[in-house]
Amino acid sequence: MVNTVIVGTQWGDEGKGKIVDLLSEHVDYVVRFQGGNNAGHTMVVNNKKIISHLIPSGIVQGKKCFIGNGVVVDPFVLLEEIDYLTSLHIDVSPAMLKISNRAHIIMPYHKLIDAARETKKGDQKIGTTGRGIGPCYEDKATRRGIRLCDILDFDFFKEKVITILEEKNFYLEHYFKTSPIAPEVVINQFQQIKDRLLPYIADVSVILFEGINQNKTILFEGAQGTHLDIEHGTYPFVTSSSVVAGNAANGSGVGPGNLNEIIGIVKAYTTRVGSGPFPTELFDEIGDKLQSTGSEFGATTGRKRRCGWLDMVVLKNAVRLNSLTGFAITKLDVLDDLDEIKICTGYEHNGEKIFDFPPEIKTLQECTPVYETHPGWKQDISGITDFNNLPDKAKSYLARIEELSKVKIKIVSVGPEREATIIKENIFN
Ligand code: GDP
Ligand code: IMO
Ligand code: MG
Repeated sequence: MVNTVIVGTQWGDEGKGKIVDLLSEHVDYVVRFQGGNNAGHTMVVNNKKIISHLIPSGIVQGKKCFIGNGVVVDPFVLLEEIDYLTSLHIDVSPAMLKISNRAHIIMPYHKLIDAARETKKGDQKIGTTGRGIGPCYEDKATRRGIRLCDILDFDFFKEKVITILEEKNFYLEHYFKTSPIAPEVVINQFQQIKDRLLPYIADVSVILFEGINQNKTILFEGAQGTHLDIEHGTYPFVTSSSVVAGNAANGSGVGPGNLNEIIGIVKAYTTRVGSGPFPTELFDEIGDKLQSTGSEFGATTGRKRRCGWLDMVVLKNAVRLNSLTGFAITKLDVLDDLDEIKICTGYEHNGEKIFDFPPEIKTLQECTPVYETHPGWKQDISGITDFNNLPDKAKSYLARIEELSKVKIKIVSVGPEREATIIKENIFN
């Protein structure tokens, strides 16, 4: 397999974890390049459900995994995840996992600020995962962040914590009216985990470069989805990182010429968790049915996911922004029982047709989706592994997605398990 980037095309939770797990078998390295433990990537292997938040999903296939410079790392969560995966007999030793020395650390005050901001915003809240993601990226951009390499010189780390807490504590106490944190408490917490962390810290960019020169192949595991991207998503109802494929290079420290194939993961309908506009959202019993049949609960926060029809305005936006070379369609089986399935082909706004995803929240909220209706196949497809055996109506639905997007579907997923997959086009050679 060539170097391949996996990105979400919608608002996250498209089934990236399952597809990354599946494809990992065919590569040498798996790399996360953005986001943090706001992600929740689910794999079902040998009837066991495994959820990874920070460690690349390729670890389950026994592949060497990397956390790139573009990721924000909560070291306490990382160690918990290492323990969790180790308890499942998965090797997460430092020989299998390296974390970029340039990655920024999610500090305890980032989580406090994330929570306090959401509380203060009330019903205007973003609905973040509360993991401190935004405040950590914010410190990175304002050059006040603490990086993993800073822990290597612990005296320097201590000084940084003391200096930055002066400002953070002022903000926590006087703006949010919440409790400050003593620098000694933070320093002590890190003192306790430091020695476990050190063997994992490395110059990931250099290791990946050496690997590429030895013809090792890389799978880049995106988190979130294109419409949660800080630049291109439904701002401000977005995450704080660049989610799109271009950042796979920047966020892992490899040059963009190394990205060969870019697969967009597309849920056969749409979901969103947290606040923000969602033009094809359903508020009726079909939305409830998608939610229950698809078990649409967040893998990180357990929140119910909002559900709606597939949206081609969204998909075409993802095609353009990511240079998608193929789609993996997931959760097609969730549509099995429906009499009719709708695809949104455009929006109507103030009497005008819109085909390009608008930047303004207000416009998005005012858009009415224009739908075309397809007949349901009313058949259990979850055991099908050969594309030819899919019901004709399911094939037509997929063909229409290809026709409207001009992107080929390469993989179709019909169940959460690794085996419940149809390889439509061989991408392994
Ligand atoms: P990710 O964040 O993109 O990795 O997706 P999540 O793991 O958050 O959410 C996807 C959910 O759908 C998980 O519970 C998966 O086990 C499940 N899933 C993935 N593919 C399929 C599929 O084809 N059919 C069904 N029924 N479930 C799937
Ligand atoms: P995966 O990788 C779905 C959403 C949150 C919130 C917004 C900002 O599993 O697809 P943040 O905590 O990042 O500041 O929250 O982004 N969000 C996700 N939604 N899947 C995810 O990851 C998400 N990561 C963040 O719900 O609306
Ligand atoms: Mg998820």
